[in-house]
Amino acid sequence: MKFFVDTAEVAEIADLAATGLLDGVTTNPSLVAKSGRNFFEVVREICALIEGPVSAEVTATSYDQMVAEGRRLAELAPNVCVKLPLIWDGLKACHTLSSDGIKVNVTLCFAPAQALLAAKAGATFVSPFVGRLDDIGHDGMQLIAEIVEIFRNYRSTLSTEVLVASARHPGHVVEAARLGADVITLPPKVLHQLALHPLTDKGLAAFLKDWEASGQRILD
Ligand code: E4P
Repeated sequence: MKFFVDTAEVAEIADLAATGLLDGVTTNPSLVAKSGRNFFEVVREICALIEGPVSAEVTATSYDQMVAEGRRLAELAPNVCVKLPLIWDGLKACHTLSSDGIKVNVTLCFAPAQALLAAKAGATFVSPFVGRLDDIGHDGMQLIAEIVEIFRNYRSTLSTEVLVASARHPGHVVEAARLGADVITLPPKVLHQLALHPLTDKGLAAFLKDWEASGQRILD
């Protein structure tokens, strides 16, 4: 499963990129606004740090404007992936931009039928939001299970990847991997949480204490 990071903070992305664990980045208008920085500059800088796809979202809601904004964003770097909302005009824009060879991430997906439409419109990725469904008492991971099942039935004709979005905790990551989702995008905090286990810390402390008592060193 590919790991994307969900942030517009360039310094955090640079730090995570150095681990070799990052396969891509997703941003959204809220994350860019939170960064307080110029959208185009942020996207250019992230694209220079990461070889994989970097999602940059349009803010228009009509077909013509979404296509125009999408083309403008795609000019910023070859690895820009234009993010479009899952509304009717967004699906039309997805078809147009995808036909031009531009990568598209169809976002704000909350139902299997929506995901199927995005795939038929030629999306590179479709982003179902698990955390926001959990927030309203639904089961976000059930949505992932249903989309993965549907896409598997049509693997020879649909190439869209399932990008699990709005992930809130390591449990979402494990469940997404068990279901065979292609990608998950994570806030940096959740990506860091994946490495944590109290027994790892406890075990390391004990090893270091015993080593110290031995009086030996690996390097002089
Ligand atoms: C994905 O592309 C979205 O930017 C993101 O995952 C939304 O997450 P949130 O529901 O935590 O805002």
